[in-house]
Amino acid sequence: MNKITIAIDGFSSTGKSTVAKQLAKHLGYVYVDSGAMYRAITFYAMQQSFINRNSFNKEALINDLPKIKINFKLNKTLGFAEVYLNGENIEKQIRTLEVSSFVSKVAAVSEVRKKLVEQQQEMGEGKGVVMDGRDIGTVVFPEAELKLFMTASAEKRAIRRYEELIERGDKVSYEDVLKNVQERDYIDSNREDSPLEKAKEAIEIDNSDMTLEEQFNKILELVKMTIEDRK
Ligand code: DC
Repeated sequence: MNKITIAIDGFSSTGKSTVAKQLAKHLGYVYVDSGAMYRAITFYAMQQSFINRNSFNKEALINDLPKIKINFKLNKTLGFAEVYLNGENIEKQIRTLEVSSFVSKVAAVSEVRKKLVEQQQEMGEGKGVVMDGRDIGTVVFPEAELKLFMTASAEKRAIRRYEELIERGDKVSYEDVLKNVQERDYIDSNREDSPLEKAKEAIEIDNSDMTLEEQFNKILELVKMTIEDRK
């Protein structure tokens, strides 16, 4: 079968990674969570004390970029690839509200974006890839055969993220999660380099009132139509 590239962009906590994983599994494609790569660099910056509540030493992070190696390794039990920073599995550490509260600032640094976009393009060279993020259809794979743009209300997204964090055992309040979602929407959409925007050809999916199953079926239909159209 003809393999395609599927680019999924959208606001934070719109369920991009959930549907991307479902699609990759169903189609036998590779799933790449590009947000995990920005989170990994943020985690590195936090470990080195380059970033904290009061300051961000951008230059120090830029200088250290050549030392930062990010890769993914399949976790057979979970059925998807986990992210590694310089050989260490940091999948759990990058999902905290603390990393979420700094990541948009790190993702606004052009040098960081350049490094990660190059690596993402290499990972997608062979097609048969589903990648989710903020600039996948606009910058990373402008030629992607299928581009999706996911949206949902900020409140719905905050509830989803809050429940995920509570389930993991994190102590967070709904209000703080909502504030984080709104702040990230603002920074991600207004930064100078590759702001989050809907690619011209992207199909918008508002999943505020969709079940996961309804969403998956709708998107799978779009994938099948795209593959069919190319025959
Ligand atoms: O998808 P996520 O919430 O894990 O992404 C974390 C942050 O990384 C998000 O707030 C913006 C940034 N990001 C980005 O700028 N470009 C991408 N392709 C993916 C994520």
